Amino acid sequence: MEKRKPSIPQFKAWKEQGRKIRMATAYDFSFASLVERSPIEMILVGDSLGMVMLGYDSTVPVTMEDMVHHTKPVVRGAANTFIVADMPFGSYNVSLSETMRNANRLMQEGGADAIKLEGGEGVLDLVAALTSGGVPVMGHIGLTPQTASQLGGFKVQGKDAAAAQQLIEDAMGLEEAGAFAVVLECVPAPVAKMISEKLSIPTIGIGAGPDCDGQVLVIHDLLGIFDRFTPKFVKKYATLNGTIIDALSTYAKEVEDGTFPGPEHSFGMVEEELQRLY
Ligand code: KIV
Repeated sequence: MEKRKPSIPQFKAWKEQGRKIRMATAYDFSFASLVERSPIEMILVGDSLGMVMLGYDSTVPVTMEDMVHHTKPVVRGAANTFIVADMPFGSYNVSLSETMRNANRLMQEGGADAIKLEGGEGVLDLVAALTSGGVPVMGHIGLTPQTASQLGGFKVQGKDAAAAQQLIEDAMGLEEAGAFAVVLECVPAPVAKMISEKLSIPTIGIGAGPDCDGQVLVIHDLLGIFDRFTPKFVKKYATLNGTIIDALSTYAKEVEDGTFPGPEHSFGMVEEELQRLY
């Protein structure tokens, strides 16, 4: 079946129908083109690119320039997939006008269909201003990697009743402020279930159990390419790093022993022309 970019109202309708939303990250044209050819309907150009593409230890060093730079090729590679781009650290904590300008850049220059930003009650005014300014916003609560150090590291959030209650209120606040979906990261499954039942907008889980309205994974994790560390919530659907290293090693060996390039990868010349050279 031909793929068509879903609309924001469609995501809400899918939640009502119990149809799960499938999302994966992508950061370049090649991977976006592969996602485009799969049934996955949403791509996140996540600031996780700081770790898997740029080799930083966290998402904090990622800049607006990085995000715009990586969003553009994803949009070129996946015309029929809904594309959400992350607002990086520092792009929405200075002023409302700078936040608006940065969000506009991700949509106008980058070509994203929506933006995502991290936080609960502290960002509700921003979310309301962005959505009333025409920028579709996906929220992100629970473990928020940009502020992981304030949370005591990369840990499950909302484990006691008070913290879980705060997450529920944050999620409801985001819906009220106009967010069209909310990512729940590293949240106990029963809390994510409760939030998903309370909201009329979809929840997208990562480490938040099976009852969210959709799921998201970092593409380098799910394909088994990134192996610096593997969070508990990651399922590897392939181990491509092994496949890639094997292919590179075979190439290296064939160059060394002269097997590559063979005649089928080389260009010949008309014999007469060759003779004229001698
Ligand atoms: O940047 C990212 O990839 C994310 C996901 C982990 C949700 O925010």
